[in-house]
Amino acid sequence: MQRLTNKQVVLGISGGIAAYKSAELTRLLKGAGADVRVVMTPSATEFITPLTLQALSGNPVHQHLLDTEAEAAMGHIELAKWADLILIAPASANLMARLTAGQGDDLLTTICLATEAPICLAPAMNQAMWKDSGTQENAEKLISRGIKLFGPGVGEQACGDTGPGRMLEPEEIVQETANQFETGSLTGKTLFITAGPTREAMDPVRYISNHSSGKMGYAIAEAAAEAGASVKLISGPVNIKAPERTQLIKVESAEEMLSASLEGLENCDIFIAAAAVADYRPTAVAEHKIKKGTEEIMELHLVKNPDIVATVAGSSPKPYTVGFAAETKDVLNYARGKLERKGLDLIIANDVSRSDIGFNSDENAVTVISQQDTLELPQASKRQLAGSLIELIAAQYKATK
Ligand code: C5P
Repeated sequence: MQRLTNKQVVLGISGGIAAYKSAELTRLLKGAGADVRVVMTPSATEFITPLTLQALSGNPVHQHLLDTEAEAAMGHIELAKWADLILIAPASANLMARLTAGQGDDLLTTICLATEAPICLAPAMNQAMWKDSGTQENAEKLISRGIKLFGPGVGEQACGDTGPGRMLEPEEIVQETANQFETGSLTGKTLFITAGPTREAMDPVRYISNHSSGKMGYAIAEAAAEAGASVKLISGPVNIKAPERTQLIKVESAEEMLSASLEGLENCDIFIAAAAVADYRPTAVAEHKIKKGTEEIMELHLVKNPDIVATVAGSSPKPYTVGFAAETKDVLNYARGKLERKGLDLIIANDVSRSDIGFNSDENAVTVISQQDTLELPQASKRQLAGSLIELIAAQYKATK
């Protein structure tokens, strides 16, 4: 459930017996990487204590619209702006009616009025209340305004009735919430993404490599999968988990990375080379461990590695090809040179002389260069940047079709 990583979710809880499940929901959202801030209506606090939700979310619970202390810490407008998504679970019939009427008579409804984030509801109520024409009309109106309804499910209810109105299980709500972060801009497209370092063996125990963490390539693979693409992630050795719904191909050397990149390339729509490929490899790999000699100086003979992204860009049919240029000076000029020399459609340039961004850092800032345009994307987390890059690449790719 990587799509929820670092996503800022306001979890609204209204008054209903299903509110006891909101504790588990909070735990699962947190477990999936979301930052959760809970907002409770007064009646929700009759069913579950704010303390429970504060402990599970790791954040103070917001309850009152007119609480000066809470407003000073994070006011209702700030919360409304902070949210990437507002999820209300359980959403009672009364809460749905108040939202439909556009009321702002408590903190939760006021935040819903003030936000530009998507709003999702997991309705939970007695089956007769759900079937009531008033509730049904409200549900239709809310849906027509772009509010998403998760469920309700059908089954046995706390009051003893059976029918529609059960809140979906917390796992299902988390899945539906994660689905909201899919953009669909690459649906049906196949992407190959190289990431991480390569290792070039000298002997059975030693290799030449570099400090690439793979974070940028993995974040791009994750963003591409979230955008609906089918992703083959061709990765050198790294210490991070492959994003969900990507096909991970583990490689070590540049030559292995090249053959994994060329396999099935005719089906690839977009190729993104984010790997830090070793430029050279030892001319030969010693069969046994190289022994320390008496000489002070040891010579190692190296041979140039194939340029993977240039080989891909020179193939026929050629996918839309994107490369990276990590430079320490004259960044844009070197990057433009690489765009030409390697036959790329797009190059993403970054300044690796800065210690706060790039190589092993969680943040990056890049300039995206094509034949026609140059666009700067300011410093952001690699995940956020990856999302922007994927949307930009998707748009540029579509413009070429
Ligand atoms: O030439 P340089 O290593 O600076 O180019 C960087 C870009 O080329 C990156 O996109 C990198 O993944 C790719 N590359 C490659 N194969 C190589 C060297 C670099 O695909 N052997």
